[in-house]
Amino acid sequence: MKKLKNDLFIRACKRKKTDRTPIWMMRQAGRYLPEYRAVRAKADFITMCKTPELAAEVTIQPVDILDVDAAIIFSDILVVPMAMGMDLEMKESVGPVFHKPIRNEADASSLKSIDPFKDLKYVLDAVTLTKKNLDNRVPLIGFSGSPWTLLAYMVEGKGSKNFSEVKKLIYSQPGIAHKLLEKISEVIAEYLSAKIECGCDAIQIFDTWGGILPQKDFYEFSLNYVEKIISSIKRKQEPVIFFAKGVNYKPKKLAKCGADVIGFDWTADLSQLRNEIGNKTALQGNLDPNVLYSSHEIIARRAKAVLKSFGKGNGHIFNLGHGILPDVPPENAKFLVDYVKKESIKYHG
Ligand code: CP3
Repeated sequence: MKKLKNDLFIRACKRKKTDRTPIWMMRQAGRYLPEYRAVRAKADFITMCKTPELAAEVTIQPVDILDVDAAIIFSDILVVPMAMGMDLEMKESVGPVFHKPIRNEADASSLKSIDPFKDLKYVLDAVTLTKKNLDNRVPLIGFSGSPWTLLAYMVEGKGSKNFSEVKKLIYSQPGIAHKLLEKISEVIAEYLSAKIECGCDAIQIFDTWGGILPQKDFYEFSLNYVEKIISSIKRKQEPVIFFAKGVNYKPKKLAKCGADVIGFDWTADLSQLRNEIGNKTALQGNLDPNVLYSSHEIIARRAKAVLKSFGKGNGHIFNLGHGILPDVPPENAKFLVDYVKKESIKYHG
């Protein structure tokens, strides 16, 4: 493997010494960039995911435009249920919709196991091409949804306010839920291993809906499976990040899941988490994405507060607490990146 020209992100994931804090942003390849919208005007979202040249192009855009310290492969967490046989539609101004959600045992058993090299070849081809085009300027992050977050979409069929359908399933038919989670976990572990084999330098698991569960159920229906996946991903030195939105209780328990990095949303206090977790894992986060609507002065003040809350030393990756929003001015994102790069030097060395 060729050496990365900028390996700050990888070093920070392993809590190694860096001379500043690395920064990237969840959903950095997206609609807030006019350059993304120009590509998107020519192709629908799923076609973009399935066309390695387009996926590679928009993956690299935030590296060229914002100068972030990592790229994340352009794709979606929902390509996995799609590969397992579900019919996905990305509805303009609605979001993802599965027209035939999973509601019973028969639906569950209709889901296929997959071979990522066949059924998700287009993602792996996008990874290979992106690695080539990136030319090792920065590391490339591969990702998947957590089994729980994927199950939530597969059972609800779309985004949801109350998640009644998936909660109905886990509370009344936990056996079916566990069978499904088991199946999805196996698929994810193979998929993430394949991404690493094709060149991804790190992996992030998104548990966007982990925070909607009672604590005990979060462990049983989410964390438990994430742990299994992390222990079975075939990897050498590639770090794993676990981001569970809305979950910052019992951080010590989270930190035992086997991930090298735990990502937190903006409701978390990094100093408190660092005190509790100690040096067990690196921390990623956690500026409220809405801060990027503010003036540069306010962005600077808020970003400084995040740096200060982690404090001095290694093992912090600056990020937003969730994805960047589609109507944020790109110059504000660029300002944040430049500011964090400069200001964070004070917290190192
Ligand atoms: O981070 C990146 O830049 C890489 C690409 C990426 C996308 N989706 C592209 C995308 C990643 C990592 C995701 C993950 C994802 N997808 C998650 C987990 C993270 C999170 O945000 O919570 C979830 C829940 C999804 C499911 C999903 N995909 C939703 C709910 C939507 C619709 C809402 C929205 O933001 O439009 C998508 C579509 C989607 N995924 C877009 C992009 C750039 C917008 C599609 C478009 O161009 O119209």
